[in-house]
Amino acid sequence: MKRAIYPGSFDPLTLGHMDIIERSASIVDELVIGVLNNSAKNSLFSIEERVSMIKEMTAQIPNVTVASFRGLLVDYMKEINATIIIRGLRAVTDFEYELQIAQTNHVESPNVETIFLTTSLQYSYLSSTIVKEFASYGGDISKFVPKQLMDRIYTKYNITK
Ligand code: PNS
Repeated sequence: MKRAIYPGSFDPLTLGHMDIIERSASIVDELVIGVLNNSAKNSLFSIEERVSMIKEMTAQIPNVTVASFRGLLVDYMKEINATIIIRGLRAVTDFEYELQIAQTNHVESPNVETIFLTTSLQYSYLSSTIVKEFASYGGDISKFVPKQLMDRIYTKYNITK
């Protein structure tokens, strides 16, 4: 059985993430969405909020589970018996960083493979950072994030829509 992890900060979950989740869930047996619990990183949403939003948005996908992790990804993967890392590639600008991480993880844990999915064209510009920037000025984020999460994002910036 192939268990994969889709790791990330998901601060917040975007439609680009949802696209990668849906597509990768259809090619592996089990997909764990691993939300990085990094206390050093200033995040908009708490780890509990991020995990709960992703759980809500993926409840209909039977082979997807959501969990948070701390520390090295490869260590967490040993703990949960996962051997595949899923990452989305948007543009060539992602490539250098992603290649470096994938190679480091493979050297650390030779049984771990990273599979890159190219982001669907309509989400190739999208990132959580862009969503936060746009939302903070009251911009329309309906094309960027699941509709059910919009209010929660605006609320963080004291914006009522
Ligand atoms: O969504 P992000 O922030 O681009 O995700 C980055 C993530 C979480 C995949 C990466 O930072 C990560 O795996 N962090 C855990 C620590 C680790 O294992 N780093 C990679 C080895 S250099």
